[in-house]
Amino acid sequence: MNILEIRDFSFSYPDQEKRALTEISLDIKEGTLNVICGRSGCGKSTLLRQMKSVLAPHGEKKGMILYKGKPLAELEYRTQSKEIGFVMQNPDNQIVTDKVWHELAFGLESLGYDNATIRLRVAEMASYFGIHRWFYREVKELSGGQKQLLNLAAIMAMHPSLLILDEPTSQLDPIAASDFLETVKKINRDIGTTVIITEHRLQDIIPFADKVFVMDQGKLITEGTPGEIGLELKRREHGMFLSMPVPMQIFASVDSDLACPLTVSDGRMWMQ
Ligand SMILES: Nc1ncnc2c1ncn2[C@@H]1O[C@H](COP(=O)(O)OP(=O)(O)OP(=O)(O)O)[C@@H](O)[C@H]1O
Ligand SMILES: [Mg+2]
Repeated sequence: MNILEIRDFSFSYPDQEKRALTEISLDIKEGTLNVICGRSGCGKSTLLRQMKSVLAPHGEKKGMILYKGKPLAELEYRTQSKEIGFVMQNPDNQIVTDKVWHELAFGLESLGYDNATIRLRVAEMASYFGIHRWFYREVKELSGGQKQLLNLAAIMAMHPSLLILDEPTSQLDPIAASDFLETVKKINRDIGTTVIITEHRLQDIIPFADKVFVMDQGKLITEGTPGEIGLELKRREHGMFLSMPVPMQIFASVDSDLACPLTVSDGRMWMQ
C-alpha cells in the first residue's frame, strides 16, 4: 500500500516567476526507505515540506498530495503531528525544552497522552536510542550529534508512520553523521517506519534505499532502485551520476557480462 501519493504537483513561491516544483508525481510505499537527491536548489526541501501541512511554504499550488489515500490538506494537524515526523537540518531549531528527558516527553504531552503512556514511551525511546546515559542532562550540554539523535528520538516517541528527514546530518561531524544514518536505517528495518530522506552523504544511505528519486530544476527526472538509477543517470550522462556512491558508478559502468564487483539483491547493492 502507498502511504503517500503525489499527483501532478506544482508549486511556485510568492512573486517568483519560475516554479520551484513542476508536475511531480510519485508514490511512496509503506515501510520503504526512500532517498530524494539532486543538485542544490533543485527543490528537495520545497517538496519535503509539502508533505506536512504545517511546514508547507506559502505559494501557488496545483495537484494533489494523498496521505494513506486521503488528501493531506484534509488531515487534521494533530493527526499529522503524530503520524508524520519531520527532522530538519539544525536540531537547535526543533528542540524546544532544556532537559533531555523533557524533550522526549514534550511531543506526547502536547498531544495529550496520559502519564503512564508518556513514561513508557520515553523509557522505550531512551533505551532504543541509547539516551539513558545522558537522560538527565541539560540539552545545552549535548554535542550536535546527541542533539540530532534526541530530536529524532522525540519524534519517534510519537510512533509516526512516516519519517521525513531533510539533510539531517549537515551540521554533524562525519562520525556522528554516519552513526545517525545507521540509526535511521535501523528504524526503517526494525520498526518498519517509512522513511523519506534527502542527504548529501549519499554513499551512506543510497545503497540501502528501496527507491531513489532524482530531481533536477524542480522536476522529478527519474526514479528506481539504486542499481536502476545508476544505469539511468549513466545512460543520460547526467551530472548527478558523479555524485552517486562510487560502487554504484562502477556497477553502472562495467559491462554487465563481466565479473562484477557488486551484486544487486532486492534492488539493493552489496559488495561481494
Ligand atoms: N522562501 C523562498 N522564496 C523564494 N524562493 C525560494 C524559497 N525557498 C527556496 N526557494 C527557491 O526554490 C528553489 C528550490 O529550493 P530548495 O530549498 O527546495 O532546494 P534544495 O534542493 O532543498 O536545495 P539544497 O540542496 O541546497 O538544500 C530554489 O531555486 C530556491 O532558490
Ligand atoms: Mg534543501
